[in-house]
Amino acid sequence: MCGIIGITGRKFVTDRLIDGLKRLEYRGYDSSGIAVLTDGSLQRERAEGKIKNLEAKLNAANIDGQSGIAHTRWATHGVPNETNAHPHFSGRVGVVHNGIIENFLELRKELSKTREFRTETDTEVVAHLVDAALEQGDNPKDAFRKSLKQLTGAYAFGVIIDGVEDQIFCARAGSPLAIGIGEGEMYIGSDAMALTQLTNNLIYLEEGDWAILTPDSYEIFDRQDKPVTREATIISGGPAMAEKGNYRHFMLKEIYEQPETVGRTLANYIDEFRLTANIPPELDFSEFDRIVIIACGTACYAAMVAKYWFEQLGGVAVDVDIASEFRYRKPVISKNSLFIAVSQSGETADTLAALRYAKEHGTKTAALVNVMTSTMAREADIALPINAGPEIGVASTKAFTSQLTALASLALSAAVTRRALSRDAEIRLARALIETPRLIKESLLLDGQIERLAFELSSSKQAFYLGRGSQVPIAYEGALKLKEISYIHAEGYAAGELKHGPIALIEDGTPVIVLAPYDNLFEKTISNLQEVASRGAKIILITDETGAKSAGDLASYVITMPDSDSFVAPIIMTLAVQLLAYHTAVHLGTDVDQPRNLAKSVTVE
Ligand code: F6R
Repeated sequence: MCGIIGITGRKFVTDRLIDGLKRLEYRGYDSSGIAVLTDGSLQRERAEGKIKNLEAKLNAANIDGQSGIAHTRWATHGVPNETNAHPHFSGRVGVVHNGIIENFLELRKELSKTREFRTETDTEVVAHLVDAALEQGDNPKDAFRKSLKQLTGAYAFGVIIDGVEDQIFCARAGSPLAIGIGEGEMYIGSDAMALTQLTNNLIYLEEGDWAILTPDSYEIFDRQDKPVTREATIISGGPAMAEKGNYRHFMLKEIYEQPETVGRTLANYIDEFRLTANIPPELDFSEFDRIVIIACGTACYAAMVAKYWFEQLGGVAVDVDIASEFRYRKPVISKNSLFIAVSQSGETADTLAALRYAKEHGTKTAALVNVMTSTMAREADIALPINAGPEIGVASTKAFTSQLTALASLALSAAVTRRALSRDAEIRLARALIETPRLIKESLLLDGQIERLAFELSSSKQAFYLGRGSQVPIAYEGALKLKEISYIHAEGYAAGELKHGPIALIEDGTPVIVLAPYDNLFEKTISNLQEVASRGAKIILITDETGAKSAGDLASYVITMPDSDSFVAPIIMTLAVQLLAYHTAVHLGTDVDQPRNLAKSVTVE
């Protein structure tokens, strides 16, 4: 989280820094700022809130230069006001930072003896450290290098120094950072997205690397300060930034893209002619006796659905854990396990740390990611793309259904490799997957009905989502979508679990959204539905055509999704909960694409 970008060259940089920041806004939007070197001296402008506020200030201030750094913030240390906005200055030094300096309190205590701190941030210590070293007579390179040695925690930095007109200093440990190579210009950026309009020639810094850029050169050093060469990567996908088109929000556009995005995922993982899963040969499921899937948030709910698939189809044991717990638990993970990290961004700090833990323990690792230039894709033994295309809405939608589709294909492959599935069953399941884009398209026709229902939901203070089996994670996902964009308190539960406590919260009119496709658990879910209905809950039943006929008039509202094979029903049911959350948020007038307190890429622990 937080996005950084920097340019050093011979042309003015402000407009291009702002353009890059807009591409990074998904990483945080609490405040933003820019610093440039104008005739060798530091100047900056900062603003609370979205980048458009910074732009407005820049229009009035008109600052520019040929080297500069910029930042969009997701606040960790210090409230999101202008004072705490980056770049932070101390004396001659300006710093932008993504990450958390864990020993900042200690450093701040020491530095405060001689220096005045102006912000509540952890980052300000870095500006002071470098400036103090300069004051003591170090040259800029040594001042930067020595300062890095004093820091613990996670960081990606961009630093410019008053009087050092054409250099940017940068470093990476724990947070991603790429160097962009231009003609007569060099760049830094948190990710490829920030730099695509400037160059397609990138170098991804490795852990502990630091570098000095000038308009015509770059020098990279490793953690031990030895000069190193890092391979350059030519990235594809020109400068175009994802556009909303005629859609009101990116989230709606991304929901509507799902027939195509799921189709693209399938094209990669299912052989439509042979009706079999098409998996990279280095992923041989007969080698593993256990699969460990680690992720955060929505990606973790995709992993939870996958557990049902792998276990039920292939009889292979699966552990699913949220990355922030897994990494600190000292989990027992054997060499015969396959570790799969699931992550849209491929940069989530906890998931990345979990992946590294698995690698250190000699476990084969795979990363199922949307961003193939991400750190996870580069570090895992096997990178598995989901091909959903850039996801801009902070609330994940199309990445989730593509994660599900890829995981379903992997589960199918595992079941076949382990001889747990007949050829007939394999054909049926492959066909079911191939049908999903069409079923998603049909599901989108329910948009108008769901929008009307959302109007009712928008006056509620709380909501519950219930499901059984592979619908439980979809209940969690429905609740997460609703709370993160509409700010209505919502919880997802396994339908059988509610009576063990949470049912006490049900009162007259409490909305309960029940996910019940017509499968072997349908009757049981309907019994749970009746338990809450008889306590006054207002039931919204999301089922399929067969389920709708069987349920009679037990629910206040029924959303009838198309009939599907129960294997792919979690993918189809997702459409209803996405649209319900989206329209509820729109009715409430929230910032759907950039909901409060959130960021798309969570690169801090
Ligand atoms: C919710 C959402 C988040 C992410 C989570 C993991 O809509 O988007 O819960 O799923 O932050 O992010 P990735 O998948 O990038 O690791």
